[in-house]
Amino acid sequence: MKHIAILGFGVVGQGVAALLTNNKEEVKRLVGDELNIKYILDLRDFPDSPFADRVIHDFGIIKDDADVDAVIEVMGGSHPAFEFSMDALKGGKHVITSNKQVVAEFGAEMIAEAKKHGVCYHFEASVGGGIPVLMPIIEILRHNKVREVRGILNGTTNYILTKMFTFGDSFEASLKDAQEKGYAERNPDADILGIDACRKIAILGALISGASINPDLIHTEGITEIRAQDVAVANKNACAIKLLGRAIACEDGKLSLMVAPFLIDADAPLGGVNGVYNAVEVLADPVDNVMFYGRGAGAGPTASAVVGDLCRCFTEGTHTAPVIFEKQSERLADFSAFACRHYGATDLSLSEVKAAFGEVTVLCEGKELAFLTEVMTEKAFAEAEAKLGKKLLSHIRKLA
Ligand code: NDP
Ligand code: HSE
Repeated sequence: MKHIAILGFGVVGQGVAALLTNNKEEVKRLVGDELNIKYILDLRDFPDSPFADRVIHDFGIIKDDADVDAVIEVMGGSHPAFEFSMDALKGGKHVITSNKQVVAEFGAEMIAEAKKHGVCYHFEASVGGGIPVLMPIIEILRHNKVREVRGILNGTTNYILTKMFTFGDSFEASLKDAQEKGYAERNPDADILGIDACRKIAILGALISGASINPDLIHTEGITEIRAQDVAVANKNACAIKLLGRAIACEDGKLSLMVAPFLIDADAPLGGVNGVYNAVEVLADPVDNVMFYGRGAGAGPTASAVVGDLCRCFTEGTHTAPVIFEKQSERLADFSAFACRHYGATDLSLSEVKAAFGEVTVLCEGKELAFLTEVMTEKAFAEAEAKLGKKLLSHIRKLA
């Protein structure tokens, strides 16, 4: 029998406990042994839970118990998740996590520590919820030359955008709904301001480049500035607006990383990804385009990814422990050099817009003018907007 400890009995922790109970036979068949949840660490007690008798409040008990083979860290936040995970690895216990904050900030250290002790540090659930996306990138696609990894990486914001702009619900009601369904972060600002997606693109960027990426250096925007008028213009022009994380390999060997809303052709692979669904598109040679799609948040899907990693610890040992990111930092491209077409909305005239931005494609003319520029760098766009003398009502980038 293998013994497991779960750190954090919230949405994901309870999902993992339910999965290990409901799919006990499937897991046993795969691992060749029974998995027993020996401890559940949380701040609260759960007297009505069938796992009430396993709940403890002192991590030291888990750390000191040599029978615990694997620790599942699903508490969230950087600290003490980092310290608890490190202690577990040092004690020769596998660690599996869904906590992208810890992975983005300390992934390299964790992997190095795991290697030192001959155990696994796995984090499939940290990106894309239930979608098996990291393993294929680490293992199957690794020999490809990756041109870009991009995706809809946050379930909460995609759910909110879908509810607001397809069903006409308010922002507040849509967010509340996402929280009730267990999709949102404890502080939902992390979702709506793009911070969660930023951590995920930092992880994906590290996987494709092989070097750590400081999430604080990534240009990050959320969904709070997207207006109903912009979505209406997008729809009229057969486009959708999605919050994307993008990691682009530049010709000079640098990596261009960003999180921002993008206007996407509705018939493009990412254009039709709605609700809590996430999708990650890998553009690489020679495989060309591959897309991974599934539920990006929620107890069941996330637990599926966590338990998949847990089983791998016992079936594959450390051979799949990702040799991915070393400690040195990736060289990031200056965001001001990123170039694309830009969508703008303004109450100024077309001639004023052309005088500032040059040739544009008009998407809608009425009370507001909505337009698309030719391909411009961020720097050139900012200079043109300054020339306009008035801030645009909206600015959204266009995915080529
Ligand atoms: P929850 O807030 O629902 O659960 C976290 C649990 O951990 C809570 O019960 C909390 O207790 C407990 N906890 C927090 N700090 C401590 C501590 N120091 N010691 C013991 N227990 C502690 O979060 P989720 O389950 O939603 O998410 C967990 C992690 O998984 C996060 O990193 C999140 O980003 C990630 N994730 C979440 C997904 C989802 O769909 N929800 C999907 C993919 C990843 P209390 O409530 O008393 O503070
Ligand atoms: N809050 C996150 C989301 C959870 O909505 O995508 C999954 O990482």
